[in-house]
Amino acid sequence: MTLKTIEWKDNSVIMIDQTKLPNVLEYVTYTDYNQVADAIKTLVIRGAPAIGVAGAFGLALASLQSNATTEKNELIAYMQNAKKILFETRPTAVNLGWGLNKIMEVANNGNTVEEIRNNVIEYAKKMADDDVQINMTMGKNGSELFNDNDTIMTHCNAGALATVGYGTALGVIRATKDSGKNIKVIATETRPIQQGSRLTAFELKHDGIDVSLIPDTAVGYSMANSLVDKIVVGADRILRTGHVYNKIGTYQVATMAKQHNIPFFVAAPLSTFDMKSNPEDVIIEQRKASEVTGIGDKKTAPDGIDVINPAFDMTPPELIAGIITEKGIAKSPFEESIKKLFQAN
Ligand code: MRU
Repeated sequence: MTLKTIEWKDNSVIMIDQTKLPNVLEYVTYTDYNQVADAIKTLVIRGAPAIGVAGAFGLALASLQSNATTEKNELIAYMQNAKKILFETRPTAVNLGWGLNKIMEVANNGNTVEEIRNNVIEYAKKMADDDVQINMTMGKNGSELFNDNDTIMTHCNAGALATVGYGTALGVIRATKDSGKNIKVIATETRPIQQGSRLTAFELKHDGIDVSLIPDTAVGYSMANSLVDKIVVGADRILRTGHVYNKIGTYQVATMAKQHNIPFFVAAPLSTFDMKSNPEDVIIEQRKASEVTGIGDKKTAPDGIDVINPAFDMTPPELIAGIITEKGIAKSPFEESIKKLFQAN
């Protein structure tokens, strides 16, 4: 049984507190959308698909928190304000805005306050269920790209913990293993906040998948010494041109893969695609200096040092062998191939 990151139960949202992993597997329960917003901001929950669903559940909580009894407009105005607060938590992953917009659409289509509350809760629950199904389909699609005895490198955490369950990149890895192929995984540590060692290594070990952890600085060594056959990572945003925004360091992994002729794949659902923006429109989240000047509570840099701490980078399409989705695999030329995936939707 893979981990379930987030769920709706008895009019509250329950999620794993990922800041405590891998030392403690602890669940937190929220009844206020402000708590959910705070959880997204502080990485209690993180990963593009997971924060999309967290946003949707946050708005479902807001619908219950509103004092509206008969006035639809009062409820919608309350939810609009909650949407703004939830949206402003993290800027790069496009799934958050996607989840919030879907829920507001459902709310606007309702006729009465009671109907809106019911519909919004049911739709958010469906989004969570769909997420797992989509990941499983994506996993099956992607598993065909991997061979028996492959060692697959992944970066950051695009697993069950970054989604509602099963995972995007790790979903592909799970499906490959479930198809009977023998595989090994190399997970990068992913400084500064170590989603690779804290989360990916934790969840793969939890599920009995063979995983070795490397420092980010050993990516080149691993590829140069033939320790890696293929790479699969997740994504926080993919543009219609195939430009992929993912955890900082992804670009380095992809560039190194090109140098060593190792196929570099990305796995993400269609909800991660941003078909409107151009690279110059995408905001790369800049995070606090203390993530870089220390590891956990231990200070590892001099006081007052200037820090540059972007959370994401952009990998250009020419470094990507394929983008795995629930609708199939996009390949170069990406613009054409991505368009076809949406037409098949
Ligand atoms: O800052 P995070 O932990 O929310 O970033 C998540 C990532 O960038 C992951 O690499 C992931 O691939 C995208 S979500 C499946």
